[in-house]
Amino acid sequence: MKHYRLIAVTLLSLSACSKDYSPAPQASGEQIFAAACAECHKPANNGSLYQLKPEHANLAYISEKIGKGSWLMPAFNRLSADDLLKISTYALEHSEITEK
Ligand code: HEC
Repeated sequence: MKHYRLIAVTLLSLSACSKDYSPAPQASGEQIFAAACAECHKPANNGSLYQLKPEHANLAYISEKIGKGSWLMPAFNRLSADDLLKISTYALEHSEITEK
């Protein structure tokens, strides 16, 4: 039973190569996170959302990741520059930096 669920989740994420999502006007970073990111990104026990390598702990890297995605993460290419900045800042502020 568990097995089938895993397959379904895998198919879902593979088909999600880009997202048309665009937030309500004036949405905060936290609201964008809840609507667009929380389905995949759960907080760790200490509350942090991401563990970033030192070289990735900057807005340029994070906003590029969100805008372009990866083979596992959908690209949010409909976000305005303003929303992209808000969600990237929120992600960075809720990240911990790994030693290496
Ligand atoms: C369909 C699932 C999914 C959604 C939705 C999603 N992500 Fe991701 N994200 C992933 C996966 C899987 C990884 C780890 C693999 C990778 O880096 O591609 C990841 C990695 C990341 C990283 C870490 C980058 C790094 O190199 O360490 C950040 C930051 C991130 N996501 C931010 C976001 C934000 C912000 C949103 C919402 C706008 C979002 N993600 C939505 C699946 C998702």
